[in-house]
Amino acid sequence: MITTDLNLIKQQLEQGDVVGIPTETVYGLAANIFNEQAISTIFSTKKRPQTNPLIVHVHSLEKAKEVAAHFPPKAEQLAAYFWPGPLTLILPKSPLISDSITAHQPTVAIRIPNHPITLHLLQTLDFPIAAPSANPYNRISPTRSSHVEAYFPDIAILEGGNCEAGVESTILSFEGDEVVLLRHGAISIEAIQQKVGRILDRTAGTDHQAPGRSKKHYSPLCELIISYEPLFMLSAVQEKKVGILWFKEVKIASPKVFKNVVLSPSGTYEEATANMYDALHKLEKDGVDLIIVERLPNEGLGRTVNDRFERASAK
Ligand code: TXA
Ligand code: MG
Repeated sequence: MITTDLNLIKQQLEQGDVVGIPTETVYGLAANIFNEQAISTIFSTKKRPQTNPLIVHVHSLEKAKEVAAHFPPKAEQLAAYFWPGPLTLILPKSPLISDSITAHQPTVAIRIPNHPITLHLLQTLDFPIAAPSANPYNRISPTRSSHVEAYFPDIAILEGGNCEAGVESTILSFEGDEVVLLRHGAISIEAIQQKVGRILDRTAGTDHQAPGRSKKHYSPLCELIISYEPLFMLSAVQEKKVGILWFKEVKIASPKVFKNVVLSPSGTYEEATANMYDALHKLEKDGVDLIIVERLPNEGLGRTVNDRFERASAK
């Protein structure tokens, strides 16, 4: 059920239910961080392995400091600049944070989401909320309340409009004085480097400690391939219902293609990012057998978009 009733959502969270909430990145599947049963329901609802930890969402830096044991200087600097916003920081956890949230790691993931309704919700609650993206494990992330409802018809979902960024937060951790990138996201590498200089890119690993790094992730049910030349890929395809996701324009139309979708008519990485998951949801609804995606230039948020489509294409 989709609702605009903030009080209802607040009550449900207080009584230990799991609810859908909007953020500026993607919708989340939220629960009280202090209610172990509710946290366990997040994992079972998503069918997510217990080894994959959750992000804690707070409304202020002061609250963030209650759930982290320590903020390194660079974390403090990044938080001051980017929060509220699509940046998740991995920090040593305070004793307040249970092992079920961190999957028994000594660190906790924290962010302040930049969505007016959800910030207001967090301010009225006595506890932070844990929220992974509101999709079943490895499936396409939700950027509209309707996407969440299609996955989880039995939960209450707070209406918050279309997610502005449309892709998950960028995740950073800290090692000594180094800043480490663990997941590409809605803030580009370049924007982070402008603040703190060099960063180490560890997004390529596939171990579980590594966020969003599960090789197969963010996936439609059909086959997906990513290429600089979508139409080259088409020549080998027979008898398939094909959708193509183009970056700025349909470069060459082919009668073999069921649907051409342009991710950013204005040709910006931000717009392509904001439209990417919704385009996948729509093509999946159309029942295509194959999605071919035009690869973006590897810079700015183009890198984030390519990262998601690469994972969506993994077998
Ligand atoms: O934009 C977002 O970050 C969204 C919205 C709802 O806030 N949330 C989100 O959560 O993307 P989720 O659970 O889908 O992805 C969080 C990632 C997971 O891949 C998890 O492995 C990683 O963060 N993570 C969480 N805690 C961690 C920790 N202590 N150390 C390393 N990775 C961690
Ligand atoms: Mg996710």
